[in-house]
Amino acid sequence: MQNMNLEFQGNTKPLYWQGSPREMAFTIEEIKEKLSQTHLPCYVMKDFRGRIGVSNGGALVAEGRGLEVLATVQALPAEQLGDPSFLADYKLDRAYKTGAMANGIASADLVVAIGQKNMLGSFGAAGLVPARILEAIKQIQRELPTQSYACNLIHSPVEAALESGAVQLFLENNIRVVEASAYLGLTEHIVHYRAAGLSQDAEGNTHIQNRVLAKISRTEVATHFMKPAPKAMLDALVAKNKITALQAQLAAEIPMADDITVEADSGGHTDNRTLVALLPTIIKLRDELQQVYQYKQAIRIGAAGGISTPASALAAFMMGAAYIVTGSVNQACVEAGTSEHVRKLLQTVASTDVMMAPASDMFEMGVELQVLKRGTLFGPRAKKLYEYYKLYKSIDEIPTAEREKLEKQVFKKPLEEIWQMCIEFFQERDPEQIARAKDNPHRKMALIFRWYLGLSSNWANAGTKDRVPDMQIWCGPAMGAFNDWVRGTYLEHYQNRTVADVGEHIMQGAAYLYRIQSLKMQGVVFPSTLEQYVPVRKEEMELV
Ligand SMILES: Cc1cc2nc3c(=O)[nH]c(=O)nc-3n(C[C@H](O)[C@H](O)[C@H](O)COP(=O)(O)O)c2cc1C
Repeated sequence: MQNMNLEFQGNTKPLYWQGSPREMAFTIEEIKEKLSQTHLPCYVMKDFRGRIGVSNGGALVAEGRGLEVLATVQALPAEQLGDPSFLADYKLDRAYKTGAMANGIASADLVVAIGQKNMLGSFGAAGLVPARILEAIKQIQRELPTQSYACNLIHSPVEAALESGAVQLFLENNIRVVEASAYLGLTEHIVHYRAAGLSQDAEGNTHIQNRVLAKISRTEVATHFMKPAPKAMLDALVAKNKITALQAQLAAEIPMADDITVEADSGGHTDNRTLVALLPTIIKLRDELQQVYQYKQAIRIGAAGGISTPASALAAFMMGAAYIVTGSVNQACVEAGTSEHVRKLLQTVASTDVMMAPASDMFEMGVELQVLKRGTLFGPRAKKLYEYYKLYKSIDEIPTAEREKLEKQVFKKPLEEIWQMCIEFFQERDPEQIARAKDNPHRKMALIFRWYLGLSSNWANAGTKDRVPDMQIWCGPAMGAFNDWVRGTYLEHYQNRTVADVGEHIMQGAAYLYRIQSLKMQGVVFPSTLEQYVPVRKEEMELV
């Protein structure tokens, strides 16, 4: 067996620094400047007068004359954080991705803004009708002619037509990257998307045209995406002429996802898991399955949930994340497809101002998502609706006084009138929903309640004034952490927040903190002002 022990043949003598004394910084301001140059190395020395100073230049020597070196850190600029193959595959400058936000909250403008800075945006297609998704796709393709972007492909267990329709739309419109989310297992639709993009060149290499970034928070779900597509699904797709026999064969040799985003406690759908516990588990699972399948390009693991500051970004990278994903923080940015009211409210939020509430799309299954609890009553009201749904089998079973209260305070209309609106709504979108509820009063009740849960986020996005208490605003604790970080800076004001600038500061800040932490672990003690990365505005921005 090969000798696996490490060896060290280096020089253990102290290092010396040779350079111009003028290159050394001693004041806090000058030191800050040197530390900020993350694309250059940084040396901490003691000069002949015993003062501790910092330099980005000069040379280290093992012997001879020079200043004694106390600590060193190599260059590590923001563009080096994360996995280089992630940057290369998606043609990015930063291993930074903005997550999809439903109903176009992650708007075309948001995706374009982040894409123009060579970071990866994901369009919030969930909940939108095909015509609106198509309109957004056209805008993104016009404004990002060469850059990468993703569209959200969300699993829809209750309305399967939505998922298959989205895949069809994406295939027809050359969408090359999807952010797949809310999956519990694989469906034929997502397998279709993946396999339909496979081809083989003359040398026998497989080319993957349709990339999948799967967002997961459970090991079981991650496993499905880390394995090749199931044979039965591939065979079924071949039988339906949706993919070729060759594509089925190629799909059997590659994983379902190129990238897996581990989603911890986040805004929207979440299992409220902690990233520090979940990320290592999924990375280990990836390593084990890589041993089994020996994929040419190992699946990369990214991190989402709770990331909105330089410190949280750095923590994720240091735990092995190939890239990071932000969500909540982007909803408060000017490009987000939401209302001024919501943006303004979000700038005041603390990390404890969030709660879990029933999700509209998987209401019957008892699935919850994380929403804002400050400035709205949506959370408690939605929870009450779920209680009624569990307690009663039809709306007629709800005691009269309670039903009247519901109709007056929450629905602002008789429930039967709401039902008529549901019929009209689904007739255009998915008539089967109504057919299935016809002789099933419990289902009818669910659809009525989902009317409220569904519209409540539209009221938030539109800033509907008389519906402020009913606004459903998806939000995680990351929002409060961001507000804490930027308090006292230009980014405190929501109108100064733009997605690419926020992303760039998070990444620059992570690179800065990497440097600080490395030097601290070698014994350097910094004054607290140097331990923080404070975002400073770029000159071209117009501020309020
Ligand atoms: C307003 C909002 C809407 C969201 N909608 C979706 C969605 O439609 N599809 C999806 O995959 N993720 C959705 N997410 C999750 C984000 O894409 C992202 O993974 C998550 O917000 C990251 O965690 P964070 O909120 O702690 O930053 C949403 C998040 C927010 C805040």
